[in-house]
Amino acid sequence: MKGLTYIYFSATTTTAQCAKAVGKAMGLPVNREINIADNHATELPFFEPDDVAIIASPVYSGRLPEPAVNTIKRLRGKGAYAIAMVVYGNRDYDDALLELMDLLKKSGFNIVGAGAFIGQHSIFPKVGTHRPDKSDLSALSEFGQACRERLDAGYPFKEIEVKGNFPYKNPIDVPLHPKCNSQKCKRCNACADKCPAGAIDRDNPIMTDNSKCISCGRCIYVCTYKARDYSGVKYALIGKVFVSAYSKRKEPEWKIAE
Ligand SMILES: Cc1cc2nc3c(=O)[nH]c(=O)nc-3n(C[C@H](O)[C@H](O)[C@H](O)COP(=O)(O)O)c2cc1C
Repeated sequence: MKGLTYIYFSATTTTAQCAKAVGKAMGLPVNREINIADNHATELPFFEPDDVAIIASPVYSGRLPEPAVNTIKRLRGKGAYAIAMVVYGNRDYDDALLELMDLLKKSGFNIVGAGAFIGQHSIFPKVGTHRPDKSDLSALSEFGQACRERLDAGYPFKEIEVKGNFPYKNPIDVPLHPKCNSQKCKRCNACADKCPAGAIDRDNPIMTDNSKCISCGRCIYVCTYKARDYSGVKYALIGKVFVSAYSKRKEPEWKIAE
C-alpha cells in the first residue's frame, strides 16, 4: 500500500475527527487531506490500485450533503481501496451509508470497510453532546485496525451490505438557518469565505441567503467573534421536540469486507 488520502466533508469538524481516528489506527503515511466543506471545487487526487482513501461524510436528513455528493462523483477510484464512513448526530443515518457506498462503487473503488459513527449534532448540540467520546474513539480505532488487517490480508473483497433503501429517502430541507448578530459581526468575511454553499454575501455578511444555505453550521464554527448561531422561537420549539425524541444513545456500527 502506498499511502492514505482523506476526503471528507466536515463543516463543524466531527466528521474530520472520526476519519482521522480511523486513519491513525491504520498506521499508513498520509498523502493528502481534503475537506470538501472548505473547497469543493478543489483539484482531486488521482488514484492508483494500491492507494487507500478514507471517504467520510456527515449525514444530513438521512442522506449525504449535496456538495459532498458532487465531489465524490468526480473521484476516479481506478481500483484503489476505500473506507466509507458516515457520521451522524444520534438520530439515524438512514440511507446515507448506502448512498456513499453506491457512489464509491460507481467511481471504481474497492470498499474495504464501511461504518456509521456518532458525532455531536451540529444543529442541536444537546443531542450526541461531546461525541465522539472515549468509547466512540476506541470503536473508531478498532475499525481502523480491522481495515488495516483486512488490507494486509489482501485477497479479493466481497461486497459489504449496509442498512438503507434504494430509492433513497427524499432529503427534507432543514427549516433552520444560522443567524448573524450585527452588533458582534466585524465583517471579516471568514463565514462568507468558508460557506460551502456560497450563501453569505461578502458585501453584506450579516445576511444569509436561506435558499442556498444548507444549515451545515460552518459559519458558526469559523466565526471568531461568536456572531453567528441558531436562535429564535422556531429553533427552540423544534429543538425541544428533537432532544426528547433522539437523546437515547446510539452506538457505532461497522463492517469489514469478507
Ligand atoms: C442540515 C443537517 C442535517 C442533519 N441531519 C441529520 C440526520 O438526518 N441524522 C442525524 O443523526 N444527524 C443529522 N445531522 C447531524 C450531523 O450529521 C452531525 O452533527 C455530524 O456530526 C456533523 O458533522 P461535522 O461536524 O463534520 O459537520 C444533521 C446536521 C445538519 C447540519
